[in-house]
Amino acid sequence: KKIGVLAGGWSAEREVSLRTGQAALKALVARGYHAVPIDPDLRLPQQLQDAEIDVAFIALHGQGGEDGTVQGLLEVMRIPYSGSGVLSSSVAMDKIITKQLLAYHGLPTPAFDYVKSGETPRDLARRCQRLPLVVKPSQEGSTVGICIARTREELEAGLEIAARLNGTLMVEDFVDGDELTVSVVNDQVLPIIQIVPQGGFYDYQAKYASTTTRYLVPAPVAPDIAVQIQDAALRACRALGCRGAARVDFMMANNSFYCIEVNTIPGMTATSLLPKAAAAAGIGFEDLVEMILFDADL
Ligand code: DAL
Ligand code: MG
Repeated sequence: KKIGVLAGGWSAEREVSLRTGQAALKALVARGYHAVPIDPDLRLPQQLQDAEIDVAFIALHGQGGEDGTVQGLLEVMRIPYSGSGVLSSSVAMDKIITKQLLAYHGLPTPAFDYVKSGETPRDLARRCQRLPLVVKPSQEGSTVGICIARTREELEAGLEIAARLNGTLMVEDFVDGDELTVSVVNDQVLPIIQIVPQGGFYDYQAKYASTTTRYLVPAPVAPDIAVQIQDAALRACRALGCRGAARVDFMMANNSFYCIEVNTIPGMTATSLLPKAAAAAGIGFEDLVEMILFDADL
């Protein structure tokens, strides 16, 4: 079987995706698969047809890859693909819809507000009474366009920046605590990772360029709470109908934890979290890639 590793694309996370794709491609080739890279552009249907692949390993992050659109194309072209399906992908890509669904399922998520249809960012800003808040574009990844607003000025600047990116403008209560993440692979929950960024904020730089960000695996969380967080991660994935690998991000303060979002195509770069969590569970990188591939409907 010929595997097409889809990586790159046109989202703000293009560079991250290329790194995830390279790592996955290398692992597949090392395991003896016939795998080729495909960097999607607007001719993707043609690219897929020309490559004559039997299955797609999707290593795309963000718009046009993690959001259900490429999944939909692959469905129409009858090409099996790794990871979540169309609906889960689009739901998880949007942080507002995700949070509404999490709340519906009784999973804790920070209080939030957003620009509703017919409203302007000003309307949202006027409603924001308490600070600090986290300002986000609802449909980006890797912290692109996200800022913590501690003052009215920062709130307004943050809304302006986020408005230029994908999705709907949203704000969320800032949980001043520890950042935790839980990876789930084929319904198996992996050890919790605590992220300790040196600057205090786990932004794009701290994610991919920093050598000082520290990762604690397993996270130093009381065992009874760790079980609850892992259970919440699994329930979040089930609520969204995720398949293959997913990573659920949390904030925790005073032993209360809040689910922030669900990533359906977690990064698999050298500094990414999913491979670290897998390693802590005794799953090597090549095994991890194979697990994700096998979950595709071959
Ligand atoms: N959006 C990035 C790739 C992640 O969640 O790992
Ligand atoms: Mg994300």
